[in-house]
Amino acid sequence: MRVLGIETSCDETGVAVYDTEAGLLADALHSQVDLHAVYGGVVPEIASRDHIRRLLPMVRAVLADAGVERSDAIAYTAGPGLVGALMVGGGLASGLALAWGCPTIPVHHMEGHLVALMLAEEPPEYPYLALLVSGGHTMLVDVRAFGDYRILGGTLDDAAGEAFDKTAKLLGLGYPGGPALAKLAESGDDTAYRLPRPMLDRAGADFSFSGLKTAAMLLVRDAEASGRLDESRADIAASFQRAAVDTLIGRTLQAARSVAAGRVIVAGGVGANALLRRDLRDRFDGDVYFPPFELCTDNGAMIAVAGALRLADAEAVSDIRATARWSLEALERPVAQSP
Ligand code: KG4
Ligand code: ZN
Repeated sequence: MRVLGIETSCDETGVAVYDTEAGLLADALHSQVDLHAVYGGVVPEIASRDHIRRLLPMVRAVLADAGVERSDAIAYTAGPGLVGALMVGGGLASGLALAWGCPTIPVHHMEGHLVALMLAEEPPEYPYLALLVSGGHTMLVDVRAFGDYRILGGTLDDAAGEAFDKTAKLLGLGYPGGPALAKLAESGDDTAYRLPRPMLDRAGADFSFSGLKTAAMLLVRDAEASGRLDESRADIAASFQRAAVDTLIGRTLQAARSVAAGRVIVAGGVGANALLRRDLRDRFDGDVYFPPFELCTDNGAMIAVAGALRLADAEAVSDIRATARWSLEALERPVAQSP
């Protein structure tokens, strides 16, 4: 069975064709980063318009690349995300499904991030503890099986990626700031400033990044006031990254102990962070899995894979599903897999 996957939940247009036997046949990704950079963040209306412009030509190109004329099912991201942007993907998916006479599969974006690892050379087995860290989400999830999720904790304020982005903006690094801040941190001293590691002394698995972000903001202001910002920027970036990564890892290790996890996987855009990848591998006494770099951030391949795993849930086109807020815990195992 071949599944076309369509991702349009935020500012990346992603399309891919996944074959349940042969694996990933083709994929394409278009980032809108340049369009939103001038505003310092994603503008929903601009995101929707650009998805509309890009999507159909990308679907055509990916089908041609895969050497197929159509697919047997169409998976699209149905949430969580920007509703207008989601409806672009859902709209085209539904229209194509009607034309091809095939079913659609509405996919949860975060389940897509989790199964991006199926495209790695050595995918993890279940169960595992997942650290989902993106621009919109930060959570620890006890994953018993595909579709069986228990959220152990989430962020009380900013997501980890958002904290990277906002701190990067203060440092004048543009948007999205995570990769730029990580790059600048390479030339800085991460012991130059001692920043807080929020929540590590508390029970539970929740995160909070607003205190760390404020502490970094005060450092930037101080450096600015004393005319030392240029020479301090790399040290602030390195100290911030070190504190954010220590917090993510500290919380993950606590949660792993609480559920006796022998495997940890990391998914979402912040999973591309090299320090997080290296230190978590060093500090966790068990197996650690990261998706390939290019599959950490949003893409169509992860939606196609999630759709392939949920073929049992495929449905005839009815309404277009687009849900801004949707908990992973609301998902269930696909019908065919349930005991
Ligand atoms: O998963 P994703 O592509 O989109 C969302 O669903 O949010 O994640 C994007 C986030 C952004 O906040 C970006 O700054 C962050 O991932 N990010 C990074 C790195 N690469 C991307 N953060 C830290 N270090 C990186 N290398
Ligand atoms: Zn994402």
